[in-house]
Amino acid sequence: MKKSIAIFGFAALMFSAAIQVSYAQKAGTKTQAFYTYGADGKRTGFAFPALPYAYNALQPAIDSLTVSIHYDKHHRGYFTKLVVAAKENNLEGKSLEEIFASVSKYPEAVRNNAGGLYNHTLYWENMAPPKGSKPSGKLAEAINKRFGSYDKFREQFGNAAKTKFGSGWAWLILDKNKELQVTSTSNQDNPLMDVVDQKGAPLLALDVWEHAYYLKYQNKRADYVEAFWTIVNWDEVARRYAEALGK
Ligand SMILES: [Fe+2]
Repeated sequence: MKKSIAIFGFAALMFSAAIQVSYAQKAGTKTQAFYTYGADGKRTGFAFPALPYAYNALQPAIDSLTVSIHYDKHHRGYFTKLVVAAKENNLEGKSLEEIFASVSKYPEAVRNNAGGLYNHTLYWENMAPPKGSKPSGKLAEAINKRFGSYDKFREQFGNAAKTKFGSGWAWLILDKNKELQVTSTSNQDNPLMDVVDQKGAPLLALDVWEHAYYLKYQNKRADYVEAFWTIVNWDEVARRYAEALGK
């Protein structure tokens, strides 16, 4: 009996390791996780990116049930609906960035579901198990220069998140002048879309839809926003910053 449990445990461990390797390979080439490809290397459609950690990895800031419902129901729902909308609008070979750049030309279903797929993927990736980390290196310098200090940046970003009316997102972006900006968008819009006033490369995304926090925090969005700072993956934000500076 004990032997069979040990074998099962070992198999589960190997399976979990295989999933992690698969994700790490995708993470090395971020944009590929969004797409499927044909034998000729051309994009054939959209893929649903893996969650980069276990459902309980963000506790206590975000509880396991919220992450599982958010990822497996809401995020997956946007992906599933995008697959249908992309087929109806002949968008299966296009990248999300291409779609966002002229999203005003497409039906609402494309705008909402392409945004939903992309925004949530950034959100999961810019969080990690709590380590109490802060920005460092060039990103920390840029935050201090632009906002005065890390605390002042947190205050500005937090205000954008807390005061966003209804459902939407708070963002830290790098605009076309290579300046950091704090912005917010409604619904599933994002700063890459042609319909948005303040455009730029998304560096940090915070989902302030009620489905992101209601189970644990109920109506206390401010507490969810405060807890978010304990799980920000600053390494990933710094990677996006370096990538955006280089474009
Ligand atoms: Fe969400």
